[in-house]
Amino acid sequence: MTVLPAMEPSAVERTALRRHFLMCRPEHFAVTYAINPWMEPAAGADAAKAVEQWESLRAAYLSLGHEVSLIDPVVGLPDMVFAANGALVVGGRVYGAKFTHPERHAEGPAYVKWMRENGFAEVLDAQHTNEGEGDFLTLDDVILAGTGFRTDIAAHQEAQEFLGRPVVTLRLVDPRFYHLDTALFPLGGGNVAYYPAAFSPGSRAVLERLFPDAVLATEEDAAVLGLNAVCDGRNVVINAEATGLIRTLETHGYEPVPVDLSELRKAGGGPKCCTLELRG
Ligand code: ARG
Repeated sequence: MTVLPAMEPSAVERTALRRHFLMCRPEHFAVTYAINPWMEPAAGADAAKAVEQWESLRAAYLSLGHEVSLIDPVVGLPDMVFAANGALVVGGRVYGAKFTHPERHAEGPAYVKWMRENGFAEVLDAQHTNEGEGDFLTLDDVILAGTGFRTDIAAHQEAQEFLGRPVVTLRLVDPRFYHLDTALFPLGGGNVAYYPAAFSPGSRAVLERLFPDAVLATEEDAAVLGLNAVCDGRNVVINAEATGLIRTLETHGYEPVPVDLSELRKAGGGPKCCTLELRG
C-alpha cells in the first residue's frame, strides 16, 4: 500500500461561491436596553460611527463579488441592523423570526414583509420563538441550530419540517455566546470553526463527531466575537481583533478579510449578525 504524503493545509485551494446578502444600515442604532451581557445602555453607542463601520463591511462584501440588498431601518428598532436575526432563508423558502425579547418583536414582521415584497412567496410565520440565522447556520447537508438562550427547540423541529433539511440541535451554555453565530461559523465544504466551551458537553461531542477537522478557536478570539464571521468558502470576513483565529484560518488555506465593527459589538454583534444570507 502506498502512503500518500500528507498535504500541507496551506496548500489547499479554497473556492469562493457568490452570495446574496440582506443588510440593514444602522441609522437608528443605539444601546438603549440590555438583552445580552455585551450591552451597557449607560455607556451608549455612536450611530454615526456604527454606520461608517457597517459601510466598510458592506464594501468588503461588494469587493468580494457578493450581492447586497438592503432593508430600510425602522425608527425605534436599534437592533434591526442585525439582519441575521430577521429570518432563515433556504432554497427560496423563508422561515420567519419570532423574537425572544419584546424590544425586538417588531423586527420579525418587518423582515417578513421585505421578503414578501421581494419575490419570496413561500414564507412561514413561525409558531415558535427563534432568532433566524442568529441560531440557524446552514451547511450543505445539515442545518445547525442553537438553543439555550434565545431559540426554542420546538423551532428547530418547525424549521426542519418547513425546509426539509435535517436540523441538529446544539446547546449553548455561556451567556456571552447567546446565539449560535457568536460561537460557530460554517467554512464551506461541510466544515466549521467554533469555540468548544460555548457548548454543553453533549453538544461538544456532537460537533467533534460531525466535524473532526473543525477549526477550533480560543477564548481570546471568541471574546472579540471572532466567530461571528462570514465565509464564502474561501474569504472570511471577520473581526480584526481576532488575530489568533485569523492566523489559524490562513494556515488552513482561507483568506481572512478583517473588518472593524467595534461600535456594533457594544450591542453584542459582529459581521455575521449584520448579514442575512438569501439562499435561492
Ligand atoms: N443586541 C442584539 C441582541 O441581543 C444583538 C444581536 C446579534 N445578532 C446575532 N446574530 N448574533 O439580540
